[in-house]
Amino acid sequence: MIEKQQTLVGKPVDRVDGHLKVTGQAKYSAEYFLPKLAYAVLIQSTITKGKIRNFDSREAERLKGVIKIISYKNAGAIPPKPTKGFDDSLHLLQNPEIHYDRQIIGIVVAETYEIASEAASLVRVSYDKEPAQVSMDKSMSKAKAPSDKSDWRLERGDFKKAASEAELKVHATYITPSEIHSPMEPHATTALWTGDKLEVWESTQAIFNTRNKLAKAFGIPARKVRVIAKFLGGGFGTKLSTWTGTVLCALAARVCQRPVRLALSRQNTFGGTGFRPRTQQTLTLAASKSGKLKGIKHECINESSSFQDFVEDGTDISTRLYACPNVLTISKIVPVDIGKPTWMRAPGEAPGAFALECAMDELAYEAGIDPIELRLINYAENDGRENLPWSSKALKACYEQAAKRFGWEKRKPKPGSMKKDGLLMGWGMASGMHPYYRLKASAGLSLKQDGRVSIFCGTQDIGTGTYTIMSQIASDALALPLDKISFELGDTTMPEAPLSGGSMTAATAGNAVHAVCLEALAQLKELAVNDKRSPLFGLAAADMIARDEGLYHVSDSKKGESYASILKRSGKKSLDCKASSEGGADLAKYSKYSFAAHLAEVTVDPELGIIRVTRFVSAVAAGKIINPKTAASQIKGGIIYGIGMALTEELIRDEQSGRIVNADLAEYHVPVHADVPNLDLQFVDDEDNIINPLGVKGVGEVAIIGVAPAIANAVYHACGKRVRDLPITLDKII
Ligand code: MOS
Repeated sequence: MIEKQQTLVGKPVDRVDGHLKVTGQAKYSAEYFLPKLAYAVLIQSTITKGKIRNFDSREAERLKGVIKIISYKNAGAIPPKPTKGFDDSLHLLQNPEIHYDRQIIGIVVAETYEIASEAASLVRVSYDKEPAQVSMDKSMSKAKAPSDKSDWRLERGDFKKAASEAELKVHATYITPSEIHSPMEPHATTALWTGDKLEVWESTQAIFNTRNKLAKAFGIPARKVRVIAKFLGGGFGTKLSTWTGTVLCALAARVCQRPVRLALSRQNTFGGTGFRPRTQQTLTLAASKSGKLKGIKHECINESSSFQDFVEDGTDISTRLYACPNVLTISKIVPVDIGKPTWMRAPGEAPGAFALECAMDELAYEAGIDPIELRLINYAENDGRENLPWSSKALKACYEQAAKRFGWEKRKPKPGSMKKDGLLMGWGMASGMHPYYRLKASAGLSLKQDGRVSIFCGTQDIGTGTYTIMSQIASDALALPLDKISFELGDTTMPEAPLSGGSMTAATAGNAVHAVCLEALAQLKELAVNDKRSPLFGLAAADMIARDEGLYHVSDSKKGESYASILKRSGKKSLDCKASSEGGADLAKYSKYSFAAHLAEVTVDPELGIIRVTRFVSAVAAGKIINPKTAASQIKGGIIYGIGMALTEELIRDEQSGRIVNADLAEYHVPVHADVPNLDLQFVDDEDNIINPLGVKGVGEVAIIGVAPAIANAVYHACGKRVRDLPITLDKII
């Protein structure tokens, strides 16, 4: 037998695009210099609700270098005629109405960015203001079932009965604030029309959706629109949707008959590109004396816009994370005068886990049971919501391994009983779970006579490492070294793949890339066995394996030849193929989730209320880890996002004016290095052969889920203050 080849899947391979990034050669969407490129700057409303009385751009238009200023007065109809399925929630300069603070009301195009900025500042806008209500708390009487969520109320068993019989009860309300995604690279668009064809370089997590949306907006067939996204500086959900600026940039390019670049400023991103909505969640846990859950009631109400419903479903996690026979969940929304909320890293689960996992901590104290022990008592051996077995679940191992590395057994249960460096010290924990998705995706492959392979897949690399892991998958499948593989993505001329969200890219695009490699091997085998001059002539397909850049007899390493030589003799210039891949029917028989356990240590200054996260240990079970290095970056990013959620991040609106008061990163605080301790994380073995051939579950979102409650629980353990509204700022401690 031939010994097994060196494989790259599972290895901490350096990013294949790393050198492009550190040398500045990686081109982001605002870095395409096209001939006659013009620059756009947005004008945003300075009121929250009302109508534009006058939009006076005369002075701005006199400025040398200004090409065009577009507002509701001259934008024309978008779409040009009624188009089925067109989502008009973007407010594309169709009327003078203002629905939220910083709504886009105009776009200025000029010869330079500086001129466009100055011109934008010279546009005089007057308004007829109307009173705005941005406070969810003050609008609670308007709470309603969301329009598009049939399971907004869901019950199994009989919660009321279970609650009346329970020996222990926790009942509390938790608040998570509006948060904003804050990717390093704000949204950016470069748009070019050639005749009736539109090309757009867009910082998007979803090139095909962007293509389709633009086609609808301009009333042209999708095939006339090409969307390119080679590199992104993060997305976190805000780039899953196509927002107003993208459409207006393309409109400006058409009106001016010039390519136009629109690079949003940080401040621009605080108006009309979404945010995580505020939630108010009320949890009731009913349990026996021994800590066994008998009933869970979880009601989640989130703020939403006045013009389109958005549900932040915090309740879902309560229907599955623990074994419980009687569960009642209710999701409601409250429309207020704010922009449209959107998905943000682990939408639903991240805020939901804050409520559930803090309530579980409260129950642990009620019951006098260690918080990890309480989780084990209520460990769900199957998914109680779907009544399905897990495809795999290694959460128990996550608890065990994280607890061991943390030294959890030394925890003294009483709040305020542990000290560090003269400060109060607390240890808290929480769990997380995130669904695994695998949608249909396609990939193409071209093998050239020099033995090099190009692979194409219309997926995205949102900074996560898609280029690298796809190259690893192809390298193993084809037995080719990385430097013989060129993996390309982010172009709608490529075979279609879905959006990069829901942590699904590794499994979705990964399996398509794997499939196209297998298809290429099948075609190469076919060529070889039918060619009398090939050493593989006449062999059965099963008798050959990919090895050393070629095909070889499974048990005779001398019998074989390289792909290049098979291809050359065939007379073909290249071998080109395409394949698609999607989850099989088996997937529906299982509940598919990644799991995580987070253990936090904090110190609390009893006099000043200053909270520091001093240690953080996470164990993550997320199926096969293709690249422990890029996957660890995802987990670290998720934990840091969670630290921000716990301690620093809150989008604040002034209740009088309805305006956002902290619309930049100086005032909206994402964690900085000093806020983040060394992150000790570990991937737990989680073999899942059901979910897909690669065994991949996805890591982008699972890490944030449970971080904020772990920290909140640690704060309680440190000082005995149960803070149920995030972020936990020092004023809530002292
Ligand atoms: Mo994520 S919110 O699916 O980008």
